[in-house]
Parts: sequence; C-alpha cells; structure tokens
Amino acid sequence: MSGRYDDIHRRSLADPDAFWGEAAEHIHWFRRWDRVLDHDRPPFTRWFVGGETNIAYNALDRHVAAGRGDQAALLYESPVTNTELRLTYRQLRDRVALFAGALAAKGVVKGDRVVIYMPMVPEAVVAMLACVRLGAIHSVVFGGFAANELATRIDDARPKLIVSASCGIEGQKVIPYKPLLDAAIDKASHKPDACIILQRSMEKAALKPGRDTDWQEAVAAAKPADCVPVKATDPSYILYTSGTTGIPKGVVRDTGGHMVALRWSMENIYAMKPGEVWWTASDVGWVVGHSYIVYAPLLHGLTTILYEGKPVGTPDAAAFWRVIAKHGAVALFTAPTAFRAIRKEDPEGSLIGQHDLSEFRTLFLAGERCDPNTLEWAEEKLGVPVIDHWWQTETGWPICANCMGIERFPVKPGSATKPVPGWNVQVVDAHAQPVKRGEIGALVMKLPLPPGSLQTLWHNDAGFEKSYMSDYPGHYKTGDAGYIDEDGYVFVMSRTDDIINVAGHRLSTGAMEEVLARHPDVAECAVIGVADALKGQLPLGMMVLKAGVSRPHEEIAREVVQMVREAIGPVAAFKTALVVDRLPKTRSGKILRGTMQKIADGESYRMPATIDDPAILSEIGGRLNDAGYPQKE
Ligand code: COA
Ligand code: AMP
Repeated sequence: MSGRYDDIHRRSLADPDAFWGEAAEHIHWFRRWDRVLDHDRPPFTRWFVGGETNIAYNALDRHVAAGRGDQAALLYESPVTNTELRLTYRQLRDRVALFAGALAAKGVVKGDRVVIYMPMVPEAVVAMLACVRLGAIHSVVFGGFAANELATRIDDARPKLIVSASCGIEGQKVIPYKPLLDAAIDKASHKPDACIILQRSMEKAALKPGRDTDWQEAVAAAKPADCVPVKATDPSYILYTSGTTGIPKGVVRDTGGHMVALRWSMENIYAMKPGEVWWTASDVGWVVGHSYIVYAPLLHGLTTILYEGKPVGTPDAAAFWRVIAKHGAVALFTAPTAFRAIRKEDPEGSLIGQHDLSEFRTLFLAGERCDPNTLEWAEEKLGVPVIDHWWQTETGWPICANCMGIERFPVKPGSATKPVPGWNVQVVDAHAQPVKRGEIGALVMKLPLPPGSLQTLWHNDAGFEKSYMSDYPGHYKTGDAGYIDEDGYVFVMSRTDDIINVAGHRLSTGAMEEVLARHPDVAECAVIGVADALKGQLPLGMMVLKAGVSRPHEEIAREVVQMVREAIGPVAAFKTALVVDRLPKTRSGKILRGTMQKIADGESYRMPATIDDPAILSEIGGRLNDAGYPQKE
C-alpha cells in the first residue's frame, strides 16, 4: 500500500502541470499564466509562461491587504551590536517601498542589475525586496568574499547600482566593507552609476562625491514606489556560486516558479503555518539565506528571524537557544557545522535546558553532509526531529528531505531521506546508466526540473548546458555522488568535482590553485579538502617550488595564505600550505588529488592503475604525517 508521500511524489512527476498549477493558486498573479510548464526547448524549462506577478507584492503587500499588517514580518537579533528590531508586515512593506523609490530615483528600472554587498542587517533584506518590487535583478555578494571576487561579480552582472554598508561585524571584529567595495569597483572594468551606502555607528565610510549616497539621505528624499508587474519567467536574481574554476557561475532564478516552489516548500517540507516564527541561521549572501531567511517565510506569511551573530562566541554557545526561546521560534534551519561548534563548547548541552524551548518542534540541517554524530547529538539534546536535507544553490530549494508536512519517515542518520515531490532523482554510472540500488554513482535529476530551480547561467546558456546538462543527456548533473538504499532513502556522500565544503560554505579548490600558481616561487600546486572536525572540510595546499628557490618554506607558505585571503577572502579559511618535492600524477599528467585527500584523511586507498610513479604517494604520505595529518578529533 502506498502512503501519502508516494502518492504525492508520483503525481508531481506524472502530471507536473496539474500539480504545480494547483500550488500556484497560493500566489497572487496580476495576469494568470497561459501554460504551467514549457519544456519545448530542453534542457531549458520555463514555468507559468504568460503569467505576470511580483515577488514583493506576494511577500508583503498581499499579506497587509489580507489583515496581516500588524504581524511581525522580520525580527532582527544582533548580539554583536546589542540591538534588536521588530518590523511588522506593514512596516517592512513601507520601508521596502521607500527604498524602491530611492533606487528608482537613481534610475533603476525593471531588468537592471543591483549588486548588494551587505552584512546581516535589516537593510539587506529591504534592499533585496526593493529590487524585486521594481523588477530589478539583485545579486547579493557574501561579505566574507574579498574585493577581487566582488569585482568578478560586478563585471559579470554589470550592475547599474551597488548597495553596501560601512562595515560588517564578525564576532568581536569590525570589518570595514567600503574599502573592499571601492577596491572592487577600481578593479572591475564595469563601473556602476551609483552606490548607496548604509553608515553603521561602528564605522563611518568615506563617500565618493557624485557616486555614493548615504542610505538615510537616499531614503529621506524618496517617494514610495509601487510593485512593477513582471513576467513569471523574468529573472528575479543572480547568485554566484563556486564552479570548478576561479570564475563563479551566475545562477539565474526566475520569478513565478521560484515563488510557487518556495511557498509550497514551507508548507509541505517544513510544515510551517502562516503566523508562526521561523529562523534560518545562515547569511543572505548564500542561497539558504535568499530562500529561507527572506523569500519563502515571507511568501508564506511567517515571521522570519534575521540573526547577526555566530552560534558560539556572540556571546556564548547558548545564543541559539536564547533567540529561539525569546521569540517562540518553532523551527530552526542551519548548517551542521553550527551544531558542531555548539557541541564543542557545550558537549553536554547543559545550556539548552536553561531556556524554554517548549514551542520548538523541528531542526533542519543542510549545506553540507551531516555526520551522524552531530545529528544524533542534536536529536538527543533537543528532543525534536532533526531533519537533514539536501540541496544546492542551483536548485534553490530542497531536492531530498523528510517532508514534515506530508508524511514523516524514520530518520536514517547520513541520509537526506527521500526525493521531494517534483524531483526525479536517479543514480547513474559514467555512461549515464542507472546503477543497482545501494551502489554509489553520480546523483542526477531527470528533466524537466521542478519550478524554482535555475533557469540558466547569467548570459551564458552554453555554460549552463555544458556544466549541468551535457554529461548525462536528459538529466541535470548535481556534481554530487551518492546512493539510494532499498527503502528509497538517498545518501549524498561526496562531490565528483573539485568543490569543497568549508563550514557550510561552498568553495572551489581550483580557484585556490589558480591563486597559488601565481606565486613567483611556485612551479605547480594542488589544493585538496581535508576532513575537519569543526568545519567539515578545510583546504590544504601542496606546492612544488621552482628549481633554485632557496627561501624558507614557511615564508612562502605564509605568502600564499595571504594571497588566497586577499584574492578569494577570509571565508576560504585557507591557512595551510605545504612544500613537497613532487606531486603524484597519472601518466597523462593529471594530479591525483582524490588519492592525496584519502591519504590526508587517513582513509584506505587503491593505487591508481594509471599512476606515473607510485613512490611519490609514500613521499606525500610522509610529508603529510610530518605535518600532523591525518588529524584526530
Ligand atoms: N564578512 C566578513 N568576513 C567573514 C564573514 C562575513 N560575512 N563571514 C565569515 N568571515 C570571515 C571570518 O571572520 C573568518 O575570518 P578569520 O580567518 O579572520 O577568522 C573567516 O571568514 C572564516 O569564517 P567562518 O568559516 O565562518 O569561521 P568562524 O571560525 O568565524 O566560524 C562557524 C565558524 C562554524 C561558527 C561558522 O562558520 C558558522 O556559524 N557557520 C554556520 C553555517 C552557515 O552559516 N552556513 C551557511 C550556509 S547554510
Ligand atoms: P551550496 O550550493 O552552497 O548550497 O552547496 C551545495 C552542495 O553542498 C551540494 O552539492 C552538496 O555537495 C552539499 N550539500 C548540501 N546539503 C547537503 C546534505 N544535506 N548532505 C550532503 N551534502 C550536502
């Protein structure tokens, strides 16, 4: 006998038009769609073709009109500045309308790009919603990226305007953002017409006359702007994510499909009811922040918490419990690394009991593989279901989850449970043939992808097809490997490319190698991700020096560490580089990064049949052992 989940999942694949058409009834359309699904030009998929709508209208104005105006929409909690703010739906709508007016006064119109480089302050959310109110396309850049990364994104997105702040706060440190922004604009070939800068009390930024305007002044002079109807298929945002090279990929999200999928997910995956308090502890610079701090909760009429702080050290490991108890949050979504950080500080979980978590009912984890120890610890200490779920920047919302609003399955630690309705997940071998149940292979999704997933890469349809759609024709390549067990549970095990996951942040080792290779003393190099008890993975660089270089190795290592920090940013957490005599390679010259990673992690490995010189592996093993690898918890 099939259960509710099986029925719904089957229906979503068998009749996507009816399934998503029904889900779209929860969204307000200025013009109804002509067609739900258009997959006439695979691999491109368009949803709700002919429909016209607006995200800000659906996230704010619609709720005010329906009587939710006095409900809290956004609760800002900032232990690092000792401030808090409560904005109702009406207040948030008014702030957004006014800032949209400020953007419009600077000439921003539908289709223009706006880069947002902001810390976790309410103005970041206001700026995002103000863009979509005008039909402008935002591209939020995470604050932990360096000027160089920001410049790359400015050149790709070509924004008319940039919104930024004087500083961010990282634990106890004030990080000035404005010098990074100025350096990025200097470096970029594209120059924005204008910048709007939020001055924070901890740091006053110097404004460039003629280009920069103070946020408060821009808003004081503005008139509220109304929602601009846009096509369902128009882009709402671009979010850059790491690819296999130093050039990030600009993931393009549409408008209509995006809203339909996100709202549906709040009800069916997260089991949230309008009016409840929801908290995603992430950053608006990541997809998790876009989807589940800002858009999905507001589309569903929830109260969303915006938290500027860390899980530990701001001020302590009880920060999460304090915020949950204070606001009666019923669910928290964060990355496993946050829980590893809390567990390290408070292994017995004794701080949890000091707070009233009686309303709290579910913890959702994603962003990296969730190790069973962390999951079991959280389950035991919190006494609520802990739901690991799998997704990516590209997909925009979960591919696999235990759908709490549909049918709750027993949790299997290490598994993200089952494919969410809309996703046809398969495991295939290198020839795109399905593997047997339980066998590891590439995780792919049969097309068409459901609404909400990426439309293309910004101005790069060919890159989109090449990166995701060519290796397994008719399927989307996730870049993850894993297996599906006898019960249909999906286990995501590792990446199949050179992407690593550091504290839930997705990074490219290829991009780091490009930086190391620029050092004048480095002949060749490799960067691998090694297991780390707190951050999941950490990058480790290995360098072969040019002949005749006699400078101290530690000095060169310090220099490349600094270079990565300056080129990519502190978020790369690149702190270790070792000098080695040679790198192991295949006979065709490919560096055996995977094998080195296994050695560094102390895992068993098979000698690659194509290895050029097996002796190099034992040399590398010796060098890693000397440097303290494999590391013990
Ligand atoms: N702006 C500027 N710098 C930033 C930044 C930001 N928004 N975010 C991080 N950084 C800096 C940090 O200050 C740190 O710099 P340092 O090398 O000078 O110390 C560096 O980038 C690495 O940051 P992070 O990986 O966050 O490490 P951490 O030691 O500061 O904190 C955790 C570790 C686990 C507490 C933290 O990573 C965390 O809370 N993770 C939660 C997971 C998460 O939000 N994931 C997002 C996807 S769901
Ligand atoms: P990002 O695009 O930054 O969200 O990173 C997406 C990648 O993070 C995925 O492709 C996976 O490699 C990894 N990931 C995210 N969630 C999970 C999960 N629940 N289990 C295993 N890996 C995950």
